[in-house]
This record gives sequence, structure tokens and C-alpha cells, in this order.
Amino acid sequence: MAAKDKIILALDVSSEREAVELVTELKDCVGAFKIGLELFTSLGPRIIEAVKNAGAERIFFDGKFHDIPNTVAGAARAAARMGVWMMNVHASGGSAMMAAARDAAADEADKLGIPAPVIIAVTVLTSINAETLQHELSVPVLLQNQVSHLAQLAQNAGLDGVVASPHEIAAVKDTCGPEFMVVTPGVRPAWAATNDQKRIMTPGDAVAGGADYIVIGRAITAADDRRLAAEAIIAEIGG
Ligand code: C5P
Repeated sequence: MAAKDKIILALDVSSEREAVELVTELKDCVGAFKIGLELFTSLGPRIIEAVKNAGAERIFFDGKFHDIPNTVAGAARAAARMGVWMMNVHASGGSAMMAAARDAAADEADKLGIPAPVIIAVTVLTSINAETLQHELSVPVLLQNQVSHLAQLAQNAGLDGVVASPHEIAAVKDTCGPEFMVVTPGVRPAWAATNDQKRIMTPGDAVAGGADYIVIGRAITAADDRRLAAEAIIAEIGG
């Protein structure tokens, strides 16, 4: 895989104009664009069409589904119909929910004659710390063990990988094997501002540590020269 294809640019904006501008400018420098809840809730499915028309070939729909299996299956079917390349669900919804998402998306893609979306799972949100996991959510295990447990559950349910902090890559790969995909946000080149990210790692270290894809937002979108920032990251990860 080319180094640029490992970069997923987070479209963390709320208007179609800003999203299309980012895609137009950066489509040759990154492999995919992430549409999250802010953009999707603001604009609905038309934003997927708009970024595709602007030249985005691969879209990661970061919808983080978590509901009963039947409802998640319906949503996964709809996401597949929109032609997204990657989507995600919460592993804590359980294996029946994850398998329902996978089956529904694959079935819908098959009917349309398009590739099935890659489906990955969120294990433990990085905003949840050990204290919250134990005392608010009443999960009496070490956070790292819960991440590995949920990654294993996602793999057994037939999912393709997980979203994980760069510090969890090794644990996930140890548990699930090298082929199980790890997509990591929380990545910052040494020259970029840390912003609100705390447990960060550089793109070079994340990829060297086994990340299959890195999600990058502000290190590129807030740079004075965005293409230059993207090219510096490509060089850093071995492009
Ligand atoms: O601007 P920045 O590079 O921090 O953006 C990272 C993107 O990855 C954002 O869209 C953010 O929501 C997402 N993300 C994250 N940390 C997680 C999961 C997702 O920063 N644990």
C-alpha cells in the first residue's frame, strides 16, 4: 500500500463548502476522508455524494452505530447503499449486533454489485479512562484487557478491525494477529500542535508500530500549507 493511502483525513467541519474545499485540495495527498457525526448530522447522506463528487474515492463513515441488532443491520445496509468504503460500530453492542451489521452491509453491497464496506469496531473510547470504566460503567477489568477482549469479540463476529489509540496497537495485534486491521487517531507529527489530544504518537511511530491506517485532522487541516503538511506526513511514514 502506498504511504498516502494509509492516511484518513478527518473532515471535522459542519458545512458542505468546507468539506468539499478540503477534499478538492487534498484528494491526491490522502487515501480516504472520514465523515463523522457532526458533518453527517448536519447535512445527511447528501454530504457523502458531495465529497464523492469532489473526488473522494474512499469514505470512512464514522457513525459508531450502537443499537439492537435489527436496527444496526438496517443502518449498515443504508451505509452500504451510500457506497462508503469503511464504517464502524461499537463492539460493546455485542457480537450479535456486530455480525448483523456485517451481514447486512455485505448483503446490500452484493445486491448492488459493489464491494462490501470494511467494518471496524470501536472498543473503549479513548475518552474513557480506567476510573470511568470501573466506577461509572462498572467494568471491573483493566482497560487494556477490555480493549483486547472487545477486539477479539469483534474479530470473532467477522469484523475487519478496530479503531484504537496508537498505544493499543501492539495489544490488539498480539490478541488478534497482524491481519486484523488497526485504525488509529490521536496521531501528531512532532512539528504539529498537540491540541486536545493527550496520548499521542507521531505518524511514523504509529505506522512502524503496526497501524494500518492513521486518522489525521488538525495536523493537516489547521496547517498554513495543508498539502505541504500532508506531504511531510507521507514522507515520515515511508512514502
Ligand atoms: O484533529 P485530530 O487529528 O485530533 O482529529 C482526530 C479525529 O479522530 C477526530 O475526527 C476525532 O473525532 C477522531 N478520534 C480521536 N480519538 C479517538 C477516536 C476518534 O481523535 N479516540
